[in-house]
Amino acid sequence: QSDRNEAARAILIANDRGGYTVPTAGLYPYQWNWDSAFASLGFAEFDISRAWQEIETLFSGQWDSGMVPHILFHKPDPGYFPGPDVWGCAGPIPSSGITQPPVALSFATRLLRADPEFGKDRFAALFSKMRAWGEWFLKWRRDEKGAIFVVHPWESGRDNAPDWDDAMSGIDPQDVGFYERRDTQHVDASMRPTKYDYDRYIWLVQRAKRLGWDDAAMAEDNPFRVADPTMHFILLRGMRDLLAAGEELGLDTDGLAGQIAELEAGAESLWNPGMGFYDSYNCNNGIWSNALTNASFLCWFAGLSSPHMETHLQRVLDAAPYGVPSLAPFDPRFDAKRYWRGPTWGMMNMMIGEGATEQGFALGEEVRKRTREVISKYGFVEYFDPMTGEAAGGKAFTWTAAVWLAWAG
Ligand code: DGY
Repeated sequence: QSDRNEAARAILIANDRGGYTVPTAGLYPYQWNWDSAFASLGFAEFDISRAWQEIETLFSGQWDSGMVPHILFHKPDPGYFPGPDVWGCAGPIPSSGITQPPVALSFATRLLRADPEFGKDRFAALFSKMRAWGEWFLKWRRDEKGAIFVVHPWESGRDNAPDWDDAMSGIDPQDVGFYERRDTQHVDASMRPTKYDYDRYIWLVQRAKRLGWDDAAMAEDNPFRVADPTMHFILLRGMRDLLAAGEELGLDTDGLAGQIAELEAGAESLWNPGMGFYDSYNCNNGIWSNALTNASFLCWFAGLSSPHMETHLQRVLDAAPYGVPSLAPFDPRFDAKRYWRGPTWGMMNMMIGEGATEQGFALGEEVRKRTREVISKYGFVEYFDPMTGEAAGGKAFTWTAAVWLAWAG
């Protein structure tokens, strides 16, 4: 145990680039938004000041609109594609032009709880920035039914999940031009998204760049708008945490309770009545993904009681021994090693497991035990085959190490 804790700390320290942490050297050489939020929880276990710094550095890249980018390109690195020139964004720090699930809102609150005396000023300094990000989601990423949507699969963080298949099939990327992928130089191509997906990822970036990354212009005739449980549930949890901590510290929480109530109501539109679980849908045509994913189970993290989902969790845990798979193994689209179409992810397991435990479901602890087991056996890798436990994706991965320190270990 103490060796593993030591190894996990060593990964965080090795991936620290001075004020921010890369997810893993090589494959992801910049600061990623939600990876960084998890890194802060790992640092909080042994260096609380460094933990705060991780989130502060992330917010130093916040745009005037309130959006916090999904990648901050602090220092150029030719080993990654698409880099800052492809995005062509004009924020305070070179960045991508899309966001990522705002789990930092919740984790900043956790840093505060870990040491309230130490953290209260740092939390207060971030508070209005965090609220501005939350409000940006409500303004620019909320559909007619009140669900939070994404405008790019990378925005959700679940890059090649089946959730995007319908919207992706409506994109014709023939004018995307030549580009060279770098990800498959670091990790075996069978564990990564396909060329079909990549052409569309890049096409969506090119479209938004042409529109100058202007939220209003991008919203017009947007071919990719998919209501996403990842985004919706994590945002709802984040807003609840902001309200609770803001009230304790006497900060300006005006309007927050109302925004939370709107997100609670909006969550109902993510319930797929035909399948009987939380799901994503294409906002442009209403077509459901019919996909039971690990994001479906974030309902508890959002504070929704959803007892039905417990039965679904039991079913997927019966089918996959090594943690919550990113897609149910009984779905014909399941692909055990391909990124978000099957593998189990430690950080998703943490949000699912904690949320389930908060709701009083015994399965929460079961998810933790299985996550602990798979990491103990196969190491601090990016993700795991949920059927065999085998290591997959990048090695020495920040958020897997952080999840070990903060929860699984
Ligand atoms: C990538 O490059 O694969 C990332 O997931 C984008 O965020």
